[in-house]
Amino acid sequence: LDKFCLGLEPQTQVRFTSTTSALKAQTEKKTAKAAKESRTFQAIQEERKEEAERSVLISCPPKINEKKFIDYLSKHGTINKHFFYNSYGANAVVEFSSRESIASLKESINIPAVEHEAAVPFKSRLLSLKWPGSQSSNHPMPKFKEQSPPSINEITQLLSERDTMDEQLQCLTETLQLTEENISLRFLVCSLLRDIAGAYFPECIIRPFGSSVNSFGKLGCDVDMILDLDGIYATSQKKGSGLSLEYQVKRGASERAVTQSILSVIGKCVDQFGPGCVGVQSILQARCPLVRFAHQPSGFQCDLTANNRVAMKSSELLFLYGKLDPRVRPLVFSVRCWARAHSITSSIPGAWITNFSLTVMVVFFLQQRNPPILPTLDRLKELAGPSDKCVIEGNDCTIVSDLSKITLQQNTDTLEKLLQEFFEFYGNFPFNKASINIRKGKEQTKPETTALYIQNPFETTLNISKNVNATQLERFVALCRESAWLLQQKEILKQSSDSPWGFAALLLPSVTSGAGVKSRRKRKLEPASSRIKNLLDSLKIKGGETVAKKGSA
Ligand code: GTP
Ligand code: MG
Repeated sequence: LDKFCLGLEPQTQVRFTSTTSALKAQTEKKTAKAAKESRTFQAIQEERKEEAERSVLISCPPKINEKKFIDYLSKHGTINKHFFYNSYGANAVVEFSSRESIASLKESINIPAVEHEAAVPFKSRLLSLKWPGSQSSNHPMPKFKEQSPPSINEITQLLSERDTMDEQLQCLTETLQLTEENISLRFLVCSLLRDIAGAYFPECIIRPFGSSVNSFGKLGCDVDMILDLDGIYATSQKKGSGLSLEYQVKRGASERAVTQSILSVIGKCVDQFGPGCVGVQSILQARCPLVRFAHQPSGFQCDLTANNRVAMKSSELLFLYGKLDPRVRPLVFSVRCWARAHSITSSIPGAWITNFSLTVMVVFFLQQRNPPILPTLDRLKELAGPSDKCVIEGNDCTIVSDLSKITLQQNTDTLEKLLQEFFEFYGNFPFNKASINIRKGKEQTKPETTALYIQNPFETTLNISKNVNATQLERFVALCRESAWLLQQKEILKQSSDSPWGFAALLLPSVTSGAGVKSRRKRKLEPASSRIKNLLDSLKIKGGETVAKKGSA
């Protein structure tokens, strides 16, 4: 293009040159976006961790002059990003471009003198901004970023404004998913916690896992954290035949006992030294010992575990599945939202199906499509390169990290069709004899008599839904059948301004919890097809049984 410009009038040349640079900028932007998109799970985690280490969390007065605030902090170095949000008052997250800025900032800050009490002199990156005198209110207020999910009514309203059910499911995902700022805040809270644990274990890292990073997190979900001590075991010198030194260490009875003792001490530190950390509970006897607490400045409920590398690998696996096809995340968000609306899942631990199990069920369903939408876990292992090799406590957790190695078959099913068939699939699944196995991508004979058997993807002798009892499974099956049947009613799929339609109609109280199907919509429903009629017949019988069982429980 540049050559082509030569010999043209100067004015025309300028126009061409600016078009060229605009095109160049556009191409660069696209390349950068593609590079960002193709980063591995590990690379994304590392980048976010590093950003968090260069960030501070500041509690601010309610009326804040953003410009003055940023000018004041900029004395310590360039600010990359910042945002404001509300949690027990106004707060700001400020990310500097270099860690030196944090050191410079910390040097200029004092431990406050508190009256009638005494302060624990722990210098964290959780700060308070004092603004002397009253601020003039004629400056514009900064924008506060929302950190909570919309209510079910707000969701219903938003969905009613869409044109198709596919659009509804996309909109649901965009509305519920974690925002960039929310993810940054999650990494920052982990990094603040690391500063506490780092007093004992300077090489440790606290990493978020679960729905904070697996791409299926909903605003308001908990922050699952792992205390990663792997850096401590890294050997600094090669073993030779000469003299060598090693650390003297205390010994515990088992790995589990050591994990419990570390978590118990860190739990105490978090409780007694951690600013903003309240309601600390050490749940050390659980299968996976943990410290649970609320972090008030962020508003997050946190679960800190240790020695839990398999769970991190599961998060990577779900992230990878979420990236492989654009229909996976909307389908998982919809199923999770539907399950929560019908109390199939709960925030209280118990005999309920968990979000993790539901996600694995969606993956399994998508492996069953013809042609399959998602590959099996065995296939992901076959495609792995030497650097992907990963064995944790004797379990081969190897999966390919480079998505470009995975070839997918052409499948054009719409989200509406997939959701409907998800309900039909699990409404008819032989749970009494078959287990769900995403490693093979095929149902297997159930090795135990538990109600629901979903093979743990990496610890293959374990069942991730062992906690689910027969009543909860029956409720899930009954609701799947009811939703499958509802979606067969063409009326439900028609846009309507006077009553919830499409996905919103599936969130209304169910027939098994007392309300009749017909009370959902006053319009006349079409007769069910014979396939669905059978489903409906069994729904009526099963629904009755479930209600009776629930009543007598
Ligand atoms: P939310 O409900 O949004 O918090 O989803 P989540 O995926 O974060 O689930 P949860 O907080 O219950 O668990 C965090 C992570 O722990 C999951 O993503 C899994 O990786 C892992 N996990 C949860 N439950 C089990 C289980 O029963 N077995 C195994 N092996 N891992 C589990
Ligand atoms: Mg979680």
